Amino acid sequence: MSQLAVEHLSIDFGGLRAIDKLSFEIAPGTIHSIIGPNGAGKTTLFNLITGIYTPSEGCILLDGEEVTGLPPHLLARRGMCRTFQNLQIFERMSAVENVMLGRHLHESKNLLGHLLRLPGVVEENRRSRAKSMELLELVGLGEQADAPAGALPYGALKRLEIARALAGQPKMLLLDEPAAGCNAVETQEIDAVIQTVAGQGVTVVLVEHDMHLVMNISNHILVLDYGRKLAEGTAEEVRQNPEVIAAYLGQQAEEAAAHA
Ligand SMILES: Nc1ncnc2c1ncn2[C@@H]1O[C@H](COP(=O)(O)OP(=O)(O)O)[C@@H](O)[C@H]1O
Ligand SMILES: [Mg+2]
Repeated sequence: MSQLAVEHLSIDFGGLRAIDKLSFEIAPGTIHSIIGPNGAGKTTLFNLITGIYTPSEGCILLDGEEVTGLPPHLLARRGMCRTFQNLQIFERMSAVENVMLGRHLHESKNLLGHLLRLPGVVEENRRSRAKSMELLELVGLGEQADAPAGALPYGALKRLEIARALAGQPKMLLLDEPAAGCNAVETQEIDAVIQTVAGQGVTVVLVEHDMHLVMNISNHILVLDYGRKLAEGTAEEVRQNPEVIAAYLGQQAEEAAAHA
């Protein structure tokens, strides 16, 4: 059974159909990339899958159960966590506190207990901190745990975001452009983190512009164009698809013209 199934999914923004009758499936334990030109609908698709938007039509099944229209926090409890295309880091909090936030968003949170520092809550905090430290180690930021997040370089912040999403203990992790704006070294570090996460059995759904990274690590690639499925398959299948080549060459020509 597929872990995620999307069936005839559409969403309209006024007159614009950003996702258009899209159907696809994601197998558990794979790295599944979604690529396509700017404006193709990749982030919108993430927003639909994670419950931020409600589709105009179609449905979403998670582990075989319909979850269409469920809000993000309930989807997170079912194991769906994500990062955002724009950094969502609290700069004045330490790195480890930013990760702990990812846990608290999903754990049973007894606010009064926190305020009164009840023993059970103190113990929960201790566990949460220890688990968050492990995640920081996993993304290579163990040494920076107590640094204010705002002092970390950009590539480290992108990894910090991944650690925070992992704190929700996802079965499926959605990453929206985790290497955007990163240099070659930072991109490699993120690449390694993604492979480690996938190696632990977490399904990774990746939106990324860096084609080298995508082609290297994806088990399956879905190509979107104008909200529709242009192609899907392995990296090799997608690379050789004439429609994909045409869409990408078209975009590159436009970008070249814009920079001329
Ligand atoms: N909240 C929104 N309201 C109106 N239009 C939107 C909204 N979100 C996205 N769009 C439009 O939907 C299309 C797809 O956008 P997006 O999903 O951000 O593309 P991508 O992530 O592939 O670059 C674009 O034309 C964009 O302008
Ligand atoms: Mg986007």
